[in-house]
Amino acid sequence: MSRPDLFDEIIECLKMQALVSPDTCLSPEVRREFYADIVKPVPPSPVPPRRTISSGGVSPARSPMPPHRKEADSAPHVRSGTPDSPASAGGKDPRNMSWEELSAAVAACRGCKLCRTRTNTVFGDGDPRAELMFLGEAPGADEDLQGLPFVGRAGELLTRMIGAMQFNRAEVFIANTVKCRPPNNRNPEPDETEACRPFIMRQIELIRPKVIVMLGAVPLRLLFPEVRAGITRIRGNWMDYHGIKVMPTFHPAYLLRNPAAKADVWKDLQLVMAVFGKKHVPGRRA
Ligand code: URA
Repeated sequence: MSRPDLFDEIIECLKMQALVSPDTCLSPEVRREFYADIVKPVPPSPVPPRRTISSGGVSPARSPMPPHRKEADSAPHVRSGTPDSPASAGGKDPRNMSWEELSAAVAACRGCKLCRTRTNTVFGDGDPRAELMFLGEAPGADEDLQGLPFVGRAGELLTRMIGAMQFNRAEVFIANTVKCRPPNNRNPEPDETEACRPFIMRQIELIRPKVIVMLGAVPLRLLFPEVRAGITRIRGNWMDYHGIKVMPTFHPAYLLRNPAAKADVWKDLQLVMAVFGKKHVPGRRA
């Protein structure tokens, strides 16, 4: 087993806090996912009421958002042929699509050359009504095979980061800037991010989260093309995307290569936690 990292320690620490005050510091969902071994199961919480957010958001109207289907359930993947415009996938502009239509359009997309080499499209995962969204770069090999974002090593780390924030994966939404794996895990090229732009824009518009955590430089370039500074300079500083608070931070894959940067990321994530009234109070070791 690998050595515990910062986020494992934080989760351990939370478990100890949960023993002291199980009803005050953790949501039922987090208790269920991370503390099942030490706290009695609690009944599921009711579906949260729809939120409205202030204008300045990307769109005033929200379409109904049923939980999205996995790519395997929706339209078949097209793996050969010439790329064409994403909007042509269903003949409809993604800006007018419902969540289900968007999911089907992504699954059928041939908007760029990545459609030729992908196994699965990776639409995203989690709660389409989440208040907290994580935006990564592009699917890797594991994600391409499973059709789910962040399921490889970087994904395991992201899951622990989310747990340390006292959330779990099911109550946030995780997506990528591009929906198909770039060959050899290279960074997506500008024509690929541009082809995918309408999809991620519409996802953000439909979810309308309170906060987006931007993981790494690729989503930074997509949402804030005018920003010249790199992720190292800009991380930890709140940004605004059409009324949505955005926290840029390092990508988990970078943290795997540079574990010392986890402390910086934890600072950034605590700023996000504060927006949701969550606070990390270091517990005492027994
Ligand atoms: N890296 C990403 O940016 N996204 C994934 O889904 C996996 C690794």
